[in-house]
This record gives sequence, structure tokens and C-alpha cells, in this order.
Amino acid sequence: MKKITIIALVVFIFGSIFIMSCSKEAETPAPVKVTYNKDIKAIFTANCTPCHLAGGTNPNKWDDYTQAKAKITAILDRVQRQPGTTGFMPRNGTMQLPQATIDKLKQWVSDGLLEN
Ligand code: HEC
Repeated sequence: MKKITIIALVVFIFGSIFIMSCSKEAETPAPVKVTYNKDIKAIFTANCTPCHLAGGTNPNKWDDYTQAKAKITAILDRVQRQPGTTGFMPRNGTMQLPQATIDKLKQWVSDGLLEN
């Protein structure tokens, strides 16, 4: 094979790889953001019941988007306290929420506290 043919072949192969890697990157979907209705409300209805739900004894209702959003700093504080210490939530619980659940709440904040 002539030298020029080999060079053309090498350029072609590397060019193809480069183009393929670009198009693959463009196809990667944007990460899905955490939203109240999709991810967060279910955490509260499962773990903060019945106290903080409509009809519960506590004035803070976490099944209400506006109230949960307004108090998210306090919520994150309380769920990260040690079980058995003052103010720990869920109240009377013996264990912290799973780390993945706490991380979801934090991600809700960093994603902008979206409702939908
Ligand atoms: C057994 C009932 C009960 C459960 C379950 C419960 N709470 Fe509470 N929560 C209370 C009571 C009573 C208070 C008021 C006393 C206090 O501040 O500690 C309170 C207070 C709070 C406050 C402080 C509100 C403020 O205005 O600063 C936050 C935040 C909170 N709870 C979050 C949660 C979260 C999040 C969950 C679920 C993961 C939860 N709680 C589960 C009874 C409960």
C-alpha cells in the first residue's frame, strides 16, 4: 500500500471515531430534576404520617407543596439529627430516614424546589 493511502485510512478511522463520540454525547438526555409531586410528596406521606398530613395534629402539613417548600431548611435539619435527641424527625422514630431519602430532599433543594 502506498504511504498516502495509509495516511488517508488513519485520518478516516480517527475522524470516524471522533464524530461517533460527538454524536453519542449529544444523545445523552438531560438529567431528570427532582420535583415535589414526582419524588418528594411520597416521602412525607410515607414517613411523616399522620402528624404532618391533612387532618393530622401538627400545624405543619408536608403534603402541602407551599408549606413543605417554605420549611425545607427545618425539615433537613430535623431529619439529620440523631434518633432520640430533641427535635429528631420522624418524631418517636428509632432510625434516621435512609441516606438515599435524605439525599433526595437535598437534591430537591439544589434542583430549585420544583413543584412539577
Ligand atoms: C408522631 C408525630 C410526628 C411525626 C411522625 C413527624 N413529626 Fe415532625 N413534628 C411533630 C411535632 C409534635 C412537632 C412540634 C414539636 C417540635 O418542633 O419538635 C413537629 C415539628 C416538626 C418540624 C419543625 C417545624 C417548624 O416549624 O420548625 C419539622 C421540620 C418536622 N416536624 C418535620 C418532620 C418530618 C420531615 C417528618 C417525617 C420525616 C416528621 N416531622 C414526622 C410530630 C411529628
